[in-house]
Amino acid sequence: MSRLLVTGRQKLSGETYVQGAKNSALPILAATILTKGENVIYNCPELSDVEASLGILRYLGCDVRRSGQTLLVKADDVKNYEIPDVLMRKTRSSIVFLGAVLARTGRAKLSFPGGCEIGPRPIDLHLKALREMGAVIKEKHGYLDCYASSGLKGTRVALSFPSVGATEDIMIAACLAKGTTTITNAAQEPEICDLADFLNKCGAKIYGAGEGVVVIDGVTALNSTAHTIIADRIVAATLMSCAATTGSEILLKGAVASHLASIITVFEDSDCKIKISDKGIRFSAPERLSTMHTVRTMPYPGFPTDAQAPLLAASCVANGTSVFVENIFENRYRHISELIRMGASIKAEGRVAVVEGVESLYGASVEAVDLRGAASLVVAALGAEGESEISGIKYLERGYENFEVVLSELGADIKKI
Ligand code: UD1
Repeated sequence: MSRLLVTGRQKLSGETYVQGAKNSALPILAATILTKGENVIYNCPELSDVEASLGILRYLGCDVRRSGQTLLVKADDVKNYEIPDVLMRKTRSSIVFLGAVLARTGRAKLSFPGGCEIGPRPIDLHLKALREMGAVIKEKHGYLDCYASSGLKGTRVALSFPSVGATEDIMIAACLAKGTTTITNAAQEPEICDLADFLNKCGAKIYGAGEGVVVIDGVTALNSTAHTIIADRIVAATLMSCAATTGSEILLKGAVASHLASIITVFEDSDCKIKISDKGIRFSAPERLSTMHTVRTMPYPGFPTDAQAPLLAASCVANGTSVFVENIFENRYRHISELIRMGASIKAEGRVAVVEGVESLYGASVEAVDLRGAASLVVAALGAEGESEISGIKYLERGYENFEVVLSELGADIKKI
């Protein structure tokens, strides 16, 4: 099993391109199932979660080829409607294949999805919406058996929570439905807009993506297109956290400042300087961060739950006490016990974590148990005195492409063994 060896306290400097967004790539890959012809998808990161989606596409009958960050996907020969358990379990976002496969074939049979253990991750909102669109869904023996033999029908879907995955699933399914689908209380994340851009380029009629109400007029067929995945705002936030914990200055090329507004505010409040230009985002941290005050995770445009772990790690060495309130997932503080091994002073109860900044963390042997928690351990290790060994990096590799290479190029002392 691979591990990361990190010797902390090295300054970072220079510039790096922020990789393409995993959370855009996954639904866009699922959406290719609806299209005819060859799609060219640029800036698609090489990650285990992306590979899992490609595995599903191939199983369904798609022709998939990769050349570096570019993917060629052709779904003309899709006939299969069943996704085996072993493929579904590899990633949580495999559930967005439900709407796509159902819309394409009128039938879908798949098991409940897997993904990181960060709390209960129900799919009731997906199922309720698809049923409202006319799907017959039977749940038995851990499988979902779904039919829409005469196609899905446009309808009004009111989400009780702006779920990212449910919004994407419904948007994809609605593209080929008969009539108009209106989603209220839709998720507004930038990845929703990226998915809508991709689908609209293929001939879909999606209006209002990125707002609370999304309207989709069904069409009879979708073409293929060429599309570039947006930069990953959570990777950008993690790199900022790495610079923050080492008192460094770096340039994040390709990062989109408007997608990072709630994160930039937190860093500015803790005395980091951020300059936005055509080149990207220049991030400059003080020798020691000031407190982050209170950070509450919320649906976009609020502070993202995925950035909580890396920023919490940076706050461990801030001058003062920071408070984090996790409102999206219940079990998202699993990195805290490992950060405490490195000398952090954190008390967590329920949704709240109180971090009393210490002057320095020290290197330790720590283990990652989920994706963003793994990133937080890298952030902490970079700022810690001495050497850390991080195991469980398969979690990191779900969402960060060659992260140790990116960080070494910026000057970090980090290697994979
Ligand atoms: C997506 C992101 C993930 C991010 C999360 C929140 C992808 C591939 N993953 O996950 O990185 O952390 O958004 O920004 O894009 N919920 C229900 N019923 C449902 C669906 C969701 O109760 O049917 C609840 C979840 O348990 C959770 C909340 O809604 O408490 C948010 O989940 P959701 O927005 O759906 O997250 P994902 O799409 O799984």
